[in-house]
Amino acid sequence: MVPDNTILLEILRDACRAPSGDNVQPWRFRWDGSTLSLYNIPDIHNPYLDFEERGAYIAHGALLENLAIAAPHYGYNASITLFPDLGVPDLVACIAFAPSVAYDDPLYTAISKRATNRRPYASRALTSDTRVALRDVAMPKDITLILIEDTTKKEALAPHISAMEQLLLGHPALSSAFFSHIVWTKREERVRRSGFYIKTMEFNPVQAFVFKLASKPWLMRAFRKLGLPALIANENAKLYRGGSALGGLHASDFSRTSAIALGRALERVWLTATTFGLAFQPLFGTTMMGYKSRHGEAMFLSDAERTAIEANARSLEATFKNTHDTPTLIFRVGYAQEPSAYTSRKEPNIVYN
Ligand SMILES: Cc1cc2nc3c(=O)[nH]c(=O)nc-3n(C[C@H](O)[C@H](O)[C@H](O)COP(=O)(O)O)c2cc1C
Repeated sequence: MVPDNTILLEILRDACRAPSGDNVQPWRFRWDGSTLSLYNIPDIHNPYLDFEERGAYIAHGALLENLAIAAPHYGYNASITLFPDLGVPDLVACIAFAPSVAYDDPLYTAISKRATNRRPYASRALTSDTRVALRDVAMPKDITLILIEDTTKKEALAPHISAMEQLLLGHPALSSAFFSHIVWTKREERVRRSGFYIKTMEFNPVQAFVFKLASKPWLMRAFRKLGLPALIANENAKLYRGGSALGGLHASDFSRTSAIALGRALERVWLTATTFGLAFQPLFGTTMMGYKSRHGEAMFLSDAERTAIEANARSLEATFKNTHDTPTLIFRVGYAQEPSAYTSRKEPNIVYN
């Protein structure tokens, strides 16, 4: 027996609570009455930041992890086959459902609570049970998780992480692409249900005012001359070095399948952190851009910009013991107030036939 359309929709609503870069939700579904097909929507991520849809596949990995965790809540087990038809490149996975005893996975309730928290985090050590839980998260094959709690190391890492913000705001095309994804009002957020909602950035009123002005290209040109990108990167570095730990996830290659495994691992770590009341923020910019640049896909940057971002990425990779030519997915984790705003999701786009 397969789930009826109502239950299928509930499972997919849970699955689609997954994170995606700028909340673009690069997924759509087809249900033929027995098998669910998950498709990628190509080219909707920021083209300057993404590398060959890998950001989307990380998001698909998180979605599949949610789906596997949520299905038993509704009395089903989900069996996932990745890239079942190489002739259909956008087909990410086929999912078959088998009836099972209904039960709640220990991570199930965290799916609806998980959110990106960009507030300042307290300088407080992880409790020992939380540390053990994070280190013990069951990882997909070939994925490594490293947690760095040492204060001196976190201080050394933070400027390399925020180097991406300096690059992004200092580069006219990169910053225009970034500002084009911003959702400026609550009303717009409720209508669009995708994009980067300004309230989730946790700006104070002065920062919010400057950010709004900076979205005008002619004003941003003046701000660049005054050194605003470096100033913001410096402030962000202070945020990133606070908190309990900086984490990193990496794989031995960066194939589509590995990007999905990284997304599944990311979601498991994030849901575990949520279960333990921890705040969490992905910080993938520097290492993703460093990887792109190393692979000749950042020719929109100047030689000096490419050299700088690659050096920053290399410093991060070395500290996270990533000896492969792959990006480390870095995140910060710690104790903080609840986020002041949350992002909504579109209804799952399901074609029934
Ligand atoms: C591949 C990927 C890259 C991301 N990169 C960043 C990042 O560098 N900085 C950040 O603050 N959030 C980042 N995020 C988090 C998304 O912006 C966030 O998941 C999305 O806006 C939805 O919000 P939510 O996580 O609160 O549900 C990333 C998420 C994914 C899946």
